[in-house]
Amino acid sequence: MSVLTKTKETVIISGQTPLFGTVTTQGSKNSALPLLAALPLLPEVELTNVPDLTDIHVMVDVLKYLGATGTFSEGVVKLDLRNLMNRPISADFTDQLRASSLFMGSLLGKFGEGRVGMPGGCVIGSRPLDIHLNGFESLGAEVDSTGGNISVISNGLEGHFTLPLPSVGATQNLICASVFSPGEVKLHNIAIEPEIFELVEFLNGAGANITFENPKTLTIRGVKRLNPVQFNVQPDRIEAFTLLVAGVATKGSVKVTHCRPEHLTAPLQALEAMGAKVEVGENWVEASYVGPLKGIEVETGFYPAFPTDCQQQISILMALAETPSILSEKVFNSRFRHLDELRNMGAQVKITNDNSAIIQRSKNEKGMIGCTVDSYDLRGAASMIIAGMVSEGVTTVKTLRYLYRGYEEFIEKLNRLGAEISYR
Ligand code: EPZ
Repeated sequence: MSVLTKTKETVIISGQTPLFGTVTTQGSKNSALPLLAALPLLPEVELTNVPDLTDIHVMVDVLKYLGATGTFSEGVVKLDLRNLMNRPISADFTDQLRASSLFMGSLLGKFGEGRVGMPGGCVIGSRPLDIHLNGFESLGAEVDSTGGNISVISNGLEGHFTLPLPSVGATQNLICASVFSPGEVKLHNIAIEPEIFELVEFLNGAGANITFENPKTLTIRGVKRLNPVQFNVQPDRIEAFTLLVAGVATKGSVKVTHCRPEHLTAPLQALEAMGAKVEVGENWVEASYVGPLKGIEVETGFYPAFPTDCQQQISILMALAETPSILSEKVFNSRFRHLDELRNMGAQVKITNDNSAIIQRSKNEKGMIGCTVDSYDLRGAASMIIAGMVSEGVTTVKTLRYLYRGYEEFIEKLNRLGAEISYR
C-alpha cells in the first residue's frame, strides 16, 4: 500500500507476542532526502531503493514545482531536471519538511541564488539554520533572513569555513552550494554520518570534484557541470536498529538483512551491553533476547557516537531492564516527549535538567500496562508501537502520520514477524 494511501492515524496493539523472523531494510530516508535536494545540480537522475515515505513525496513535489519532470514509483525516482527554474521554496514546503531547506545549497550552486521559507522548529528542538547561513556568508554569499524567508545570493563560493559543530544538514547544504565554485572551498569539522559520504559519492559519480583531506575536512574544487547519473540509495540504518530493538524488546529474535552493520557500531554495542545477543554478517544483523536486560548509560552524540535517532527506541528497552539506566540527549534540545508516554504506561522516568533521564522498569510486576499513547515525531511513533507490543493489555497509538514520514511498511513488517497490530 503506497504511503499516499495510508490515512489511518491510529493502531491498536494487543498481546505481548515475541517477534521472530527475518526482515529487509528500506532505503535510507536520511540519505534519499539530501540526494533529492542535490538534484537541481544535475541534468537527469535515476535513484533506486528510494523508500516510499511522505517526506520523500514532499521532496519530489518540490522538484516538480521547480520544473522537474518524471516519476517516483516502485522505489525509483527518475527525473529530467534540464528545464529547472529557480523559484522560492516557500514556507508551505519548509514548514512541512525541514529537509526542503537543503534546496538552498543546490539552488545557490546552480543559479547563484537560493530562496527558502524559514523552516519551523519541531517537537525535537529549535533546529536553527545559523550554521548553514554563516557558512554561505563566510564563503562569499550575501544572506538575507528577514521576514520569515531566507535569500542567499552569490556569484560563486570560495574559501574556508569551519563548522562550529558537525551539523549534517549544514554540511550537505555547503557541499551542494560549492560544487560549481569558480575556485575551491574547504570545509572543516564537517559531519561524518554515512549519509554525508553517500552524498559525496553521488556527486562525484555525477562529475563533481570533492575530496576528503582528512575524515573531518573536505575540499570541493569547482567543476563546470554535472552529468546524468544512476545511483542506489544505501539501507536505512535507523530503521534497521528500530526493528532489532522490536525483536529484543518482545523477547524474540529479529534478523535484518540488506543493511550495513558498520553503520550501527554504537547502537549494537548498546544492545549487547544491555544483555541482548547480537550476531553480525556482511549485510545483516540479528539481535536476540537471551535473558533479563541490564540497565546502561547512553549519551547521544554526533556520528560515530550513539545516534539521537536511536534514542527513543533504546529508551523502551531501558524501561524493561532489571536495573536503572541513564539516557542523555546531547544533540537536540527536546527529544524526550515519548518519555511522558512511557511514564503513563507505568515506566519509572525521572528527567533531570541537563537533558538526562533516569529510566527504570515499572514497579508493577506485570511490567508496563497498555493504554492510549500519542506520537510526536517519527522515531517516537515507532518507539510507542514497540512499547505497546511489550505492555500488558491493549495499547492504542495515535498520530501515525509521523510514522509514515520515516518508516515504509513498519506495521506490516512487525505483523509479519508475529505482532498483532491492527489499523483503526
Ligand atoms: C539530520 O537532521 C537528520 N535529518 C536528523 O534525523 C538527525 O537527527 C540529525 O541529522 C542528527 O543526526 C535528515 O538527515 C533529514 P543537524 P539535521 O543539523 O541535519 C543544531 C530523523 O529522525 N544546529 O546535524 O537537521 C541542531 O539544532 C531526523 O530522521 C544548529 O544549531 O541535524 C541540532 O541540535 C530527526 N544550527 C544539532 O545541530 C544549524 O545551523 C544537529 O543538527 C544546524 C544545526
